[in-house]
Amino acid sequence: MKTVTLAPYSDENGNRIEFTGTPTESIHITFRGKNNLARIHSEAKASKLRIDFNGNNGTFLLGSNRHKRTFSGNVRVGQDAEVRIGDEVSATSSVLISAVEGVSVDIGDDVMFASRNEVRADDGHPIFDVRTGKRVNDAQSIKIGQHTWIGAGAIILAGTKIGQGSVIGIGSIVTRDIPNNSIAVGSPAQVVRTDIAWERPHLGLVRPFYKPDASTVEKSPYWHLTADDDTVPKVAPAAASGSQKLSVPRAAATRRLRQAARRGRTAWRRRPFR
Ligand SMILES: CC(C)(COP(=O)(O)OP(=O)(O)OC[C@H]1O[C@@H](n2cnc3c(N)ncnc32)[C@H](O)[C@@H]1OP(=O)(O)O)[C@@H](O)C(=O)NCCC(=O)NCCS
Repeated sequence: MKTVTLAPYSDENGNRIEFTGTPTESIHITFRGKNNLARIHSEAKASKLRIDFNGNNGTFLLGSNRHKRTFSGNVRVGQDAEVRIGDEVSATSSVLISAVEGVSVDIGDDVMFASRNEVRADDGHPIFDVRTGKRVNDAQSIKIGQHTWIGAGAIILAGTKIGQGSVIGIGSIVTRDIPNNSIAVGSPAQVVRTDIAWERPHLGLVRPFYKPDASTVEKSPYWHLTADDDTVPKVAPAAASGSQKLSVPRAAATRRLRQAARRGRTAWRRRPFR
C-alpha cells in the first residue's frame, strides 16, 4: 500500500496519477493494488479529498473547478470500479463515495452536495440468501445528472439514477430513480414536485435579497420540464437567457397528456407545450 499526495505519479504496479496542474497536499491518493488510474483536471479544486484504490483496475476522474468551487470527499474505488466527478461539482463537507465490484458512480457537472452526503454503490459487506447462497445485495452503478442539488444529510444508494436539475431534500434516502427537474424527499425518496429549476447563488448573499420569482435570478441552462421517460433534456451550451425555450420533447409531452387524460386526472402539465 502506498499513499501519495497529488502530483504526476506512476509506480511499478502500473498505478498512475495523470495531472498537469500545481501539486497539492489537499488530495491524498492511496494505491493498494495494481493498474489504477487517477486523472485529475489541472484546474480541479479540492480540499481534504482522499481517494482509496482498494483493488486493481480502478479509475477515478475529477473535473475542473474554474469557478473556484471546492469539492471534498472520501472516495473508495474498488476492483474494476470507476468514480467520475464532473466539472464544477461542489460540496459543503466531505462526501462519502463508494464503488466496488466493477460498478461506477457518475456525478454530473455542476452537482451541488450539501453537508454529510453519501453516495454508496455498494453496501460495504456482502449479504447472501441462506437457502440458495446467492448474493442479495449486488453492487450497482449510480448516476447523478448534471446540476442536481443533494440536500444536507441526503444519501444516494446503489442502482439509482437522478435526472439532471433535480433537488433531493434534506435527510432523504434515494433508493429508486428520480426524474429530471423534480424535488424528491423522504426515505425512500418520493417525488413531491415536478417542473422545477433551482439556482446556485445563495439566497442570503446575492442580490436582490428577496427572490419572489424567476425574474430575480440569472437562469442556468437547466430550466426544463420533467420528462416522463429517461429523456435527458438537452442543455444549451451557454447560460440561458430569460427567453430560453423549455425542452421536453414534444412526443413525450403529448404522451403524458394523453395518459393523464385517459386516467381522468388533471394533467400535471397545464399549459400547452411549444
Ligand atoms: C425539499 C425542500 C427543498 C422543500 O421543497 P418544497 O417544494 O418547498 O416542499 P414543501 O415544503 O412544499 O413540501 C412538500 C412535501 O414534502 C415534505 N417534505 C419536504 N421536505 C422534506 C424532507 N426533507 N424530508 C421529508 N419530507 C419532506 C413536506 O412535509 C410536504 O409533505 P406534505 O405534502 O405531505 O405536507 C426542502 O425541504 C429541503 O429539503 N431543502 C434542502 C435544504 C438543504 O439541504 N440546504 C443545504 C444548503 S446546500
